[in-house]
Amino acid sequence: MTDRINVLLLGSGGREAAIAWKLSQSPLMGKFFIAPGNAGTEAYGTNLPLKPTDFDAVYKAVVDHDIALVVAGNEDPLVLGLREALEKRAEADGRKLLIVGPGAKGAALEGSKDFAKEFMGRHGIPTARHLTVTDANIAEGDAFLEKLAAPYVLKADGLAAGKGVLIIDKLDEAKNALREMLAGQFGQASAKVVIEEFLSGIECSVFVLTDGKGRYLVLPPAKDYKRIGEGDTGLNTGGMGSVCPPPIADTEFMDKVDKRIIRPTLDGLIKEGIDYRGFIFLGLIRCGDEPYVIEYNVRMGDPETESVMPRIVSDLLPVLVETAKGELAHTALNIDPRTAVAVMAVSGGYPEAYEKGKPVTGELSPAESIVFHAGTRHGADGGIETAGGRVLAAVSFGNGIEDAAAKSYEALSAIRFDGMYFRRDIGKDLCGKA
Ligand code: AMP
Ligand code: GLY
Repeated sequence: MTDRINVLLLGSGGREAAIAWKLSQSPLMGKFFIAPGNAGTEAYGTNLPLKPTDFDAVYKAVVDHDIALVVAGNEDPLVLGLREALEKRAEADGRKLLIVGPGAKGAALEGSKDFAKEFMGRHGIPTARHLTVTDANIAEGDAFLEKLAAPYVLKADGLAAGKGVLIIDKLDEAKNALREMLAGQFGQASAKVVIEEFLSGIECSVFVLTDGKGRYLVLPPAKDYKRIGEGDTGLNTGGMGSVCPPPIADTEFMDKVDKRIIRPTLDGLIKEGIDYRGFIFLGLIRCGDEPYVIEYNVRMGDPETESVMPRIVSDLLPVLVETAKGELAHTALNIDPRTAVAVMAVSGGYPEAYEKGKPVTGELSPAESIVFHAGTRHGADGGIETAGGRVLAAVSFGNGIEDAAAKSYEALSAIRFDGMYFRRDIGKDLCGKA
């Protein structure tokens, strides 16, 4: 492949900033667009103000800018059928268009927890025991809860912006929560509820890129920190930081993940006639020495991507093109051996109510780290201001977790915005284990 190609990346978060940063370095990149992007992605390409779920607008951008490759950053458009919608329009126009991201059937691995659990059951993939409950079998749900030990895990079947999982200590509260969820606590997303056995262990995110034909690459694994407070306390967030690689993802563990989870997942997709071309994010938990799947996502993780992308030395663009074509030829990626640690700076109050529009000042292009924007935009004066809960991530390499984290904290110490908060313990639990 020698021709340059025009690329459209969909999304606006830190994950998309990291993917954009990486793709923009490719010698094969032609014109590069990010939609809608954020104030930071402008350094890597051209932002287009459109909604990734507005398929007409996405396709118009494809035509207007002669896009050859669309990369879906987040799950919503995929679950809603982005692939089918673009393919249909491109076919009618006789246009060749490649897409990284599964069709709606494959995206149901994330879009429906019930589908994902049944899929794992059909293909012998290790996961927590579960029961899917609707209004029709609440009594069965109660009986299942009674058989489980506390705490109780209740999940809305559909997408609930990362908020649809409840972990409850008391049985009677779990029964009540089940009823509230079914009554519409998360809208249509919780019309079905998946009750799960609680698994205790260390979580780890593994990313696979597959071409739908059984060929795949495993990207560097990472650990994210979901709670707002230090020591993993307080409310769940989109993610407060990440470490790549975490020491728990050693060779022996990754071999088990490959054999017991990745291969059966890809074989299962093929057996079920699901042409899956894109990223699969395995949210795993290591119980003892064994990996179990907590969830599938059909995209990269955020903020894992911010620490994963910098470690990929190989040019990612040809790999994505091969993936989208269903012809993955790369059999390995060149990975930087150093550890990367990403620390997310968030708006005061997040993940609850927070204010936007706070000016972001200081050193946003430090020499020793990378600052990936997430919830940022340009203010009326042209400066950068906050536009979301998770505002930016500082990412650094180090010889080990402590060293990398220290550099990211140094980078954050030179950045300011009103209400800025970040966890000071990212990676601390893993120190001394690498
Ligand atoms: P999910 O959206 O499915 O990733 O769930 C959100 C978080 O809830 C996960 O990252 C875990 O920390 C926790 N969780 C989900 N399912 C389980 C389970 N079966 N056992 C223990 N923790 C769980
Ligand atoms: N960091 C977890 C996620 O992206 O879902």
